[in-house]
Amino acid sequence: MPQVSPADANAQPIGRPGDPCIMVIFGASGDLTRRKLIPALYNLGKNHLLASDFAVVGVARDAMTTEDFRNKLKQDLQQFADVELDAGLEEWFQQRMYYITGEFGDPGTFQKLKEMLQKIGAGNGTHQNYFYYLAISPDFFGPVVEQLAAAGLMTEENQSWRRVIVEKPFGRDLESAKALNKQLLKVANESQIYRIDHYLGKETVQNIMAFRFANGIFEPIWNRRYIDHIQISVTETVGVEQRGGYYDHAGALRDMVPNHIMQLISLTAMEPPISFQADAVRDEQAKILHAIQPLTSEEVLTRTVRGQYGEGELVGQHAPAYREEKAVPPDSRTETYVAMKLQIDNWRWAGVPFYVRTGKRLAARATDIVIQFRRAPFVLFRDTSVENLMPNQLVLHIQPEEGISLRFAAKTPGPVMRLGTVDMDFEYSDYFGKQISTGYERLLHDCMVGDATLFQRADMVEAGWSVISPILDIWKALPPRTFPNYPAGSWGPKDGDALLEHDGRHWRNFEK
Ligand code: BG6
Repeated sequence: MPQVSPADANAQPIGRPGDPCIMVIFGASGDLTRRKLIPALYNLGKNHLLASDFAVVGVARDAMTTEDFRNKLKQDLQQFADVELDAGLEEWFQQRMYYITGEFGDPGTFQKLKEMLQKIGAGNGTHQNYFYYLAISPDFFGPVVEQLAAAGLMTEENQSWRRVIVEKPFGRDLESAKALNKQLLKVANESQIYRIDHYLGKETVQNIMAFRFANGIFEPIWNRRYIDHIQISVTETVGVEQRGGYYDHAGALRDMVPNHIMQLISLTAMEPPISFQADAVRDEQAKILHAIQPLTSEEVLTRTVRGQYGEGELVGQHAPAYREEKAVPPDSRTETYVAMKLQIDNWRWAGVPFYVRTGKRLAARATDIVIQFRRAPFVLFRDTSVENLMPNQLVLHIQPEEGISLRFAAKTPGPVMRLGTVDMDFEYSDYFGKQISTGYERLLHDCMVGDATLFQRADMVEAGWSVISPILDIWKALPPRTFPNYPAGSWGPKDGDALLEHDGRHWRNFEK
């Protein structure tokens, strides 16, 4: 029986409101704003986590008045908020939304913004605290921050703060990520830059740390002596939808690995931090990222697998091939699947493979971390068939299932000593109820209170790309010849399975 009831959980205070501030959204007419940012702000408001002196200024190219923007957001909120809307709170939001039409490369836009911020600030006590959310094409990340600085909008004075949230992709490779860091750090301090990775906004991702460091029983066995290998899978059923243009230039490796998958690896493998201060946690994550052995050219060939989906079937429906998707060239060589075997060079993990995979149009949507323990040293149970002698597995289910399960052997009923495999399951929702969240609430709130723990530091981003860059180089030099090499709706290319089978192991696939 659950020992924490939803009511108990809700009774606990969930934090202080963010500082009084103005949030400026560049790219305010786009999808991220309407689908995620505005519903997330609404949820924060509902939970009393926004200051009463709070406002939003949207900036985008589309010609719109503040009035139009307010009406648009009202409709968007009705469409995308997963909660029943409160008319009073909706009205409160409406009154705090402003809009500026402007090009991101035009200094005039930033002058208009400055005037608008001063005008709003004069009417309420936002203390000239501003944070800028760059929900725009990455080509504009550097230029927008430079223009903000040139207009004096990055300068922190009279105890005000100025912060900028930078979306992904943060660079295309190590060189471009370094260049972007350099450009940003020329006009802002590292402490003002919040590089966002929405995976860190997921409760179950944050729970990896709670699970590891709040429980005494797992940490002693969380190492090479007891763990055989680790699997990290981020499988998706969706294709590239409306994003073919972006995706075809990125590919699965750039899109998912240096960011989301590196987060999952570092949280799973890091040493306990000395505190939950932002830099204490990020130092430990960074050490892991630095300790991942970059693959040699030879290893890229033997330890990485790429794939692209052809047509197939998903939940009983025909699914088109990647090359037939909108804005994708019919001879595209972009990968939509990647699997690889990585090693972490430190005392805790030497010799323990980390297998990771991610792909689009796979058989099921599931993000899971599987910790497979070594087998018991001696097999006493000779009457049990080999398939039933599964090693222990601890699985952290990130999504859509949210929970933790432990697989172990149990005696099957009957006169003979035979074993079967059973799972002990914990599901988040059984204990804490269903939480309504876009995944952005925590991250926006953290930025408003100046907590950068769940954001990427410059060195972490670069360390992630250092692992990826050699793979990109070899893949570019040796274009794939067998694409498409997996049907939509399957578990990916055969080589992806062979990567583990070669080591006598198997992916654990989670199907509904
Ligand atoms: C994004 C990628 O960063 O993450 C998408 O660009 C991917 O391609 C998405 O689908 C996955 O996020 P989530 O939260 O749905 O797992």
